[in-house]
Amino acid sequence: MSRGSEFVVVANRLPVDRIVGTDGVPRWRRSPGGLVSAIAPVMRRRQGTWIGWTGAPDEELEPFEEDGMSLHPITQSSEEVKLYYEGFSNATLWPLYHDVIAPPVYDRTMWDAYVRVNKRFARAAAEVASEGAIVWVQDYQLQLVPRMLRELRPDLRIGFFLHIPFPPLELFWQLPWRRQILEGLLGADLVGFQLPGAAANFVRLCRRLLDARYVKQDVFWEDRVVRARAFPISVDVGELDALVGRQEVQERAQEIRTDLGDATVLLGVDRLDYTKGITQRLQAFGELFEDGHLKPGQAVFVQIATPSRERVEQYQLLREDIEQQVGRINGEYGEIGFPVITYLHSSYDRDELTALYLAADVMVVTPLRDGMNLVAKEYVACRKDLRGTLVLSEFTGAAAELKRGAFQVNPYDIDGLKGTLLSALAAEPADQARRMRTMRRRVIENDVDRWAHSFLSELERPERSVQARPLPAATEG
Ligand code: ADP
Ligand code: F6P
Repeated sequence: MSRGSEFVVVANRLPVDRIVGTDGVPRWRRSPGGLVSAIAPVMRRRQGTWIGWTGAPDEELEPFEEDGMSLHPITQSSEEVKLYYEGFSNATLWPLYHDVIAPPVYDRTMWDAYVRVNKRFARAAAEVASEGAIVWVQDYQLQLVPRMLRELRPDLRIGFFLHIPFPPLELFWQLPWRRQILEGLLGADLVGFQLPGAAANFVRLCRRLLDARYVKQDVFWEDRVVRARAFPISVDVGELDALVGRQEVQERAQEIRTDLGDATVLLGVDRLDYTKGITQRLQAFGELFEDGHLKPGQAVFVQIATPSRERVEQYQLLREDIEQQVGRINGEYGEIGFPVITYLHSSYDRDELTALYLAADVMVVTPLRDGMNLVAKEYVACRKDLRGTLVLSEFTGAAAELKRGAFQVNPYDIDGLKGTLLSALAAEPADQARRMRTMRRRVIENDVDRWAHSFLSELERPERSVQARPLPAATEG
């Protein structure tokens, strides 16, 4: 390994996944999820190295270049995938940090694997980073890395960004390894969150659990100041703009509408995850047919669901539930040639997704909890034509920025959701345009470049050492 990068991203996944095509030839495909959508454009613009896993167990690969990025693969054994990735990351932390929508699993062997794999990532970063480099650690899978890395390389400037919600004290307290996780994060110079409330939760926990002193959102820890700040993540508006401008994409959008019989199109695009509120939205939509508000052929729901974490039990149960639900609703309300729901369990490329966004009259985003939700912002970024409406859950980070233009919903309230879907379907073109213009202003102003720039300039801002200023008394808030 060479010590040479001045900018290093450390994330559980590389931006590309190794897949084997139908022709038996292995190739790379973009990895799922919002983290890759946001970090990949930043990485392409800044020369640097991305350390991560290829998504396949037991794979040992040399560093390589792909899609304009230098990638540095980390191996995970099958056992580690089971215990660290599917286990502690996605059966413990994921549900705990998302309001305990599913019960978190607390298992000591999973924790041990989490420590072991975090150590491997920290060592790789320590070897790849040049003297004084910026290392940007991403997300809940790697919360121990900042501290481990600081111990190995105190010369580095270390940032951490959490892409998902950070829970309130009352929930975080359940975690048997709560102290270790907090101390891990405090290894960073800057800890970034999607929303100010999450940063406040973190600071409050540092005080209650570690007795750390703090002023506002600066935590005084060991001989350093650790800054906790909110940086709402966003989308690559330039990339989406270019896609929308392509004739093939426009033609494909038209073709999708024709294929759907020119019905009004409602669209959902998500990883198949129980936090996304997919069953709630389909239930509400189905009931609109039951109540006679909609007729087959008049409106259709296209639900695209990327396969995700398929070996984790809660995800398997969700898939079964949704498949049964779609079958039941289509069986009860569909007619020959007019299914009520078109459900596609697959991943699509950016052209096809953009065409889908352009074909949709109503974008339905109903998570029960979501750190941000980039799909909502992608839809807005694509609708230069100022058409279409967005139904958006109050429990997404995106709602904080888009609440003035979106039709907001509480996805737990099925009757409320039905009413909101009807309002969004009935919105006049002038109302659609007014709402879309308001939302577009926010998304265009705060795109992914601005997000990365704010995080990295805050990280690079020199910090006065704790010794240089008097230690303040601990204060609340
Ligand atoms: P999460 O990070 O939880 O998956 P986000 O909404 O923040 O949720 O980000 C999802 C990202 O994945 C978006 O950039 C979206 O375009 C992409 N995506 C979602 N579903 C699909 C799909 N079926 N095919 C390809 N990309 C998808
Ligand atoms: O923050 C959302 C996130 O969990 C990312 O960390 C992750 O890369 C993405 O969703 C997709 O999840 P996974 O890597 O488990 O497929």
